[in-house]
Amino acid sequence: MRGDRPVHVRLRGVTKRLGTHLAVDGVSLEVPEGDFTTLLGPSGCGKTTTLRILAGFYRPDAGDVFVRDVRVTDVPPHRRNTAMVFQEYALFPHMTVAENIGYGLRMRGVPAAEARRRIAAAVDLVGLEGQEAKFPQQLSGGQQQRVAVARALVVEPEVLLMDEPLSNLDAKLRVRVRTELRALQQQLGKTTIYVTHDQEEALSISDRIAVMNRGRIVQVGTPREIYYRPADRFVADFVGLANFVPVRVVAAGRVRMGDLEFEVPGAAPGPATLVVRPEAVALSAAPPAAAGRPTFRGRVKTVAFLGGLARYWIEALGTEWVVDVAAPGEQMYAGEVSLTLVPDRVHVLHDQGKAAGAPNGEPAAR
Ligand SMILES: Nc1ncnc2c1ncn2[C@@H]1O[C@H](COP(=O)(O)OP(=O)(O)OP(=O)(O)O)[C@@H](O)[C@H]1O
Ligand SMILES: [Mg+2]
Repeated sequence: MRGDRPVHVRLRGVTKRLGTHLAVDGVSLEVPEGDFTTLLGPSGCGKTTTLRILAGFYRPDAGDVFVRDVRVTDVPPHRRNTAMVFQEYALFPHMTVAENIGYGLRMRGVPAAEARRRIAAAVDLVGLEGQEAKFPQQLSGGQQQRVAVARALVVEPEVLLMDEPLSNLDAKLRVRVRTELRALQQQLGKTTIYVTHDQEEALSISDRIAVMNRGRIVQVGTPREIYYRPADRFVADFVGLANFVPVRVVAAGRVRMGDLEFEVPGAAPGPATLVVRPEAVALSAAPPAAAGRPTFRGRVKTVAFLGGLARYWIEALGTEWVVDVAAPGEQMYAGEVSLTLVPDRVHVLHDQGKAAGAPNGEPAAR
């Protein structure tokens, strides 16, 4: 259980070897009812393989898949109540939009009149009215993507699986369609497991993110937990930009960085790495008068104006820092500057790569 929602889908110790490659290595995951969970990780980390195991296209070498506590590990895809949206959409080119959407209904022997009704409802749901008689090649990428989603939803699956469904769309459309997908998922309350390698997409669309690396899940958490309290350096580096600064925790919650000492609640004594997001540093031209916050001097090496923010590369404390200044307008820093850490935005990792403070008292998944 998570909150008051029961676990809907569960992977327990799932392992899958493809050829000689260990594609999925002991993955356990619980997805609550109605949750939008995203598998996020670099290319080749095992996301598609995990999704295929959930759909029943692969049988795991070890471990089990449960849907509502029923073991479905050996149940073939068409007898599982899941539907998958594939990365390439896999629409049938010789079938119209309506025929593509109705394909799963025909396979299931749904009577024609009911099929027509459900196809019309699905068309309506994804906003494809008027396109029913067209063929896939007469549609834009975004419209094809809607057909693929409608085709998955029309069979009224319990669980929706989506493998990088937006990767064929251009950047602007991707942002719009992902917002629509999320709204649709919330409207239907449909348990959804989504795959992407795009960290911004994962942050924006998910209730929870499972970060994968080399066939394993390295952390499960809300987008904010993943971003602000990464479990290890891999997660911190993969999800967003981060500065990594060697520090020493000299007493519980007390961090020493060079000559500076400051509080980071939860940090346990020992050598550690401070994770500082680019926006967790405030810049100023003059050394700030007020003490209390950790401040040090640096020298601007490069700056990139990105519209909504300016990104600086700054030499300080013997290393290079990336610092973002939001809404910079005409303001530009050059030469000597002061960097001030925003203490409640920094995060300490123990040098064995473990989080010093577990997010919200929850152990990181492993
Ligand atoms: N049929 C196969 N035989 C051998 N190795 C395979 C096979 N299919 C996939 N792999 C390997 O298994 C690993 C996991 O593949 P998978 O497709 O799950 O990765 P992914 O996380 O979905 O990557 P991407 O983001 O590129 O789609 C990869 O290293 C891949 O090369
Ligand atoms: Mg894949």
